Amino acid sequence: MNRPKVYIARKIPYEVEEYIGKFCDYEKWGKNTEIPQDELFNRISDKDGVMLYGIKIDEALLDHAPKLKIVSNISAGYNNFNLEVMKRRNIMGTNTPGILNDTVADLVFGLILCSARKIVQADSYVKNCNWTHEYNLNLLGKDVHHSTLGIIGMGNIGTAVAKRAKLGFDMNVIYYNRNRKPEVEKNLGIQYCEFESLIKTSDFIVLLTPLTKDTYHLIDFKEFAMMKKSAILINASRGQIVNEEALVDALQNQKILGAGLDVYETEPIGTDNPLIKIPNVITLPHIGSGTSSTLYNMVKTAALNLVKGSYGEIPPNLVPELIK
Ligand code: DGY
Repeated sequence: MNRPKVYIARKIPYEVEEYIGKFCDYEKWGKNTEIPQDELFNRISDKDGVMLYGIKIDEALLDHAPKLKIVSNISAGYNNFNLEVMKRRNIMGTNTPGILNDTVADLVFGLILCSARKIVQADSYVKNCNWTHEYNLNLLGKDVHHSTLGIIGMGNIGTAVAKRAKLGFDMNVIYYNRNRKPEVEKNLGIQYCEFESLIKTSDFIVLLTPLTKDTYHLIDFKEFAMMKKSAILINASRGQIVNEEALVDALQNQKILGAGLDVYETEPIGTDNPLIKIPNVITLPHIGSGTSSTLYNMVKTAALNLVKGSYGEIPPNLVPELIK
C-alpha cells in the first residue's frame, strides 16, 4: 500500500511531526496563525487525512477533499463536525478525550476564585499603585467555601470539578445531567438536581456540557431571570451554550453578580464585544486545556488517530456518533 498523504493544519511540536512522518507523507501549515480557508481547501485536495483544531467540517470543506478518510481534531469537543454530513460521506472524525479533565477542572476553579474574590481587580489595584492604608471595600469578595456549586454537565470534567469543590472547598455540590450518575453521587456525596432548581439555588453555576442542538443557548434571558442576584456563572465548555446578549444584560443590570468565561459565541472575541468592557466578568482566551503537557498529549493522541485513520483503519478515538 502507498503511504497515505496527510495535512497538519496547525503548528505542532516537531517530535509529533516526526512520528507522523514515519507512517505518512505529510504537509503542514506550520504557522502560529489560523490557516486561510483557500489554502486549506487547496492542500487537502489529495489528502487521506487532516489534523486540525476547531475548523468547521461541512459539505464545502469535504467537496474539496475527495480522498479524505479522517479528520483528526486536536480537542475533546467536536462541535465543529457536521456529523450527519460526515456519516453520509463515510468520513471518520476523532477527538482527544480524557486528557484534559484535570487541567480544565483546575482552570474552572481559577475562574471561580478569581470571580468570587476579585483577584484580577486586586492585582491591578496593587500594580496601579492604589494600595493605601485605607481598607478598600470594593475589593470585598464572596466566599467560595461552603457555598452551593451547581454543575451542568457531569462528565469527566464535571466530576473533577465536583471533587475539588467537595474535598477542597467543602462546597455543597449539586448537578444536572441528561443521565444521573449514581456512582459519582455516592463517591463524592453530591446531589442530582432538576435544571430549574439548580439555576435558582446555586451560588456558582458551572457549564460543562457539550454544545449540541439541545444545549445551544441553554442559558438565556429566562435562566438569568431565575438566578440569584449573587450568583456567578462560569463557562469553560462552549460559548454558544449561553446567549451572550442575555449574559451582557444580566451583568450590566446586576441580575447576577459576575461571570468567569473561557469561551465565547465568537472566538477570538470581537473588539466590539461588550464583555471586554464589563468589570464584573473575567475573560480568558479559551485556555482551558492550555498547559504544555496537556496540549502535548492531546496533539500526540490526535497524531495517533490521524495515522490510523489515514490507513483506513478504525482510530482509537472515533467519536461515538460516527461508530458504525
Ligand atoms: C477542547 O479540547 O474541547 C478544549 O475546549 C479546547 O478546544
